[in-house]
Amino acid sequence: MEVLSGGLNGKQVEAIEHFEKAILVIAGPGTGKTKVITHRIAHLIRHHDVSPEQILAVTFTNKAAQEMLDRVMDKDLVDRDSSLGVRIHTFHAFCVGLIREFANEIGLPRNFAIFDQEMQDAILVECIREQQTSQFNFLLPSLRDIVGSYKAKFGDLDSGITEFETYSGRKIKDGDEIEAILNLISAYQTKLDAHHALDFTDLIAKSVRLLERNSVIRERYQRELKFILVDEYQDVNEPQYQLLKLLCCQSENNL
Ligand SMILES: Nc1ncnc2c1ncn2[C@@H]1O[C@H](COP(=O)(O)OP(=O)(O)OP(=O)(O)O)[C@@H](O)[C@H]1O
Ligand SMILES: [Mg+2]
Repeated sequence: MEVLSGGLNGKQVEAIEHFEKAILVIAGPGTGKTKVITHRIAHLIRHHDVSPEQILAVTFTNKAAQEMLDRVMDKDLVDRDSSLGVRIHTFHAFCVGLIREFANEIGLPRNFAIFDQEMQDAILVECIREQQTSQFNFLLPSLRDIVGSYKAKFGDLDSGITEFETYSGRKIKDGDEIEAILNLISAYQTKLDAHHALDFTDLIAKSVRLLERNSVIRERYQRELKFILVDEYQDVNEPQYQLLKLLCCQSENNL
């Protein structure tokens, strides 16, 4: 490992040099997991002639993506042009790129809007005010969890649903509560549609649907992306896992 800058332990070097098939790195906070990813990127480029564009590094937050890019741009790892070629994105930014390029395939205008968490909260509050419902004793993060989980799990509104569990493990089974939630989601979705807007849940769900349905696009990505590195993999939810599976060639071996 002489070409990589020091400060790595044996286990890190093992993870960095791993080449065939998938590898999952589990280690405590601040123990150098992200460092493994950035050094692995450099190792793939420098020792395996992988071209930077064939590497996708995925993070959950813009801050983490920026930090990853800053670290990959460390001149001791790879040269500037190579580091700029690596695809370093948040899950959402990656999906925005994918959906913008193929917006017409899924019936969206190319200039669709994206509602971030702040906008999503504002719309939810507006809907609750308009509905004047007394059903909601939830705080906004719980509502986001409920709306996001529901949309990701069921897609379109389905009045036949009698119970469901959110991503955070909240069980919703009270009939009145379900009805109030369906009304809220319906109002929320109407507002999103009126703005040609997608929220973060839609970005992932629509990308998954696009890749599932369009084998040409899916195979293009699978050909292009030889290595997909995910920071904080333990936080990947079901739709994000589906997305990664669709992006991975031979995902049974490589994810
Ligand atoms: N083998 C090592 N020896 C000494 N310092 C190290 C080693 N590996 C990583 N570090 C340093 O420890 C700090 C944390 O590293 P890093 O951010 O990669 O860890 P992490 O596991 O991703 O942390 P988090 O859990 O916060 O995401 C960094 O400053 C990094 O340079
Ligand atoms: Mg980290």
